[in-house]
Amino acid sequence: MPDDQRQIVDQLAKRPYAQTMVGHKALVTGASSGLGRASALGMARAGADLVIDYNGSPEAADELAHEIEALGRRAITVQADVSKEEDVEALFAAGVKEYGTLHAVLSNAGIQRDAALLDMTLEQWNAVIGVNLTGQFLTVRAAVREYKRRGPQPEVSAALGKIVCMSSVHQQIPWAGHVNYAASKGGINMMMRSIAQEVAPMRVRVNAVAPGAIRTPINHDAWATQEAYDNLMKLVPYNRIGEPDDISRAVTWLLSDESDYVTGATLFVDGGMTLYPGFAHGG
Ligand code: BGC
Repeated sequence: MPDDQRQIVDQLAKRPYAQTMVGHKALVTGASSGLGRASALGMARAGADLVIDYNGSPEAADELAHEIEALGRRAITVQADVSKEEDVEALFAAGVKEYGTLHAVLSNAGIQRDAALLDMTLEQWNAVIGVNLTGQFLTVRAAVREYKRRGPQPEVSAALGKIVCMSSVHQQIPWAGHVNYAASKGGINMMMRSIAQEVAPMRVRVNAVAPGAIRTPINHDAWATQEAYDNLMKLVPYNRIGEPDDISRAVTWLLSDESDYVTGATLFVDGGMTLYPGFAHGG
């Protein structure tokens, strides 16, 4: 990334977060790295206390908890594999035990197991669908159950509860070599909207954020070398890679009352990747 762009994103990340999540108890799945980590920090900066779910990296989760505590907020870490029903139940039980309830949930945990169709194993297919789609179903169901059990708390939020599902531009853009991943994100789109329709009368809001290419470990190979970065930029009209904080700002907005009339929406945060840049000249 050119130096002038680096300065711009550093400046952007320093902007304060408005105190829009004060009093909120928020849970993030897959929070030990990438977008989950950044969003947990953003919500803490906006005033929330956090439940940090991790699967394989207790040290990274602990480090995040310390960073959140340094911001003056509370944090607990819980190990849970979101593709397992009993793990998700235990995760939510731990959060409710610590804080009494939850008000905002980011269903974020996601993986890639890339392979060409002809080589893709059933294990690779099942692993991605299990975490990315079934895991989000289990997480969202547990969130709605907790909001319903707790009942309204208007001093904290106008909504009974709020949920954001982490989607991807690949809920819309087909992706050769990644059929399991694209199918999981396409599934999240209809899952999120169907659940949003079902629970809106309860005053539960459910939305999605669909990131494009963001600088995280999941797509390291797409930005780590100059050549890879230049190739990636052919797909990004705004001409810079996204930073995890770009996603955190969108997530925090959707999980706060700033967006109280928004439900069933997908917010693309992608520097224009879904604008079909190949058509800028031609067609
Ligand atoms: C994927 C990344 C990819 C990006 C844009 C994301 O959902 O996880 O690996 O770089 O989409 O293609």
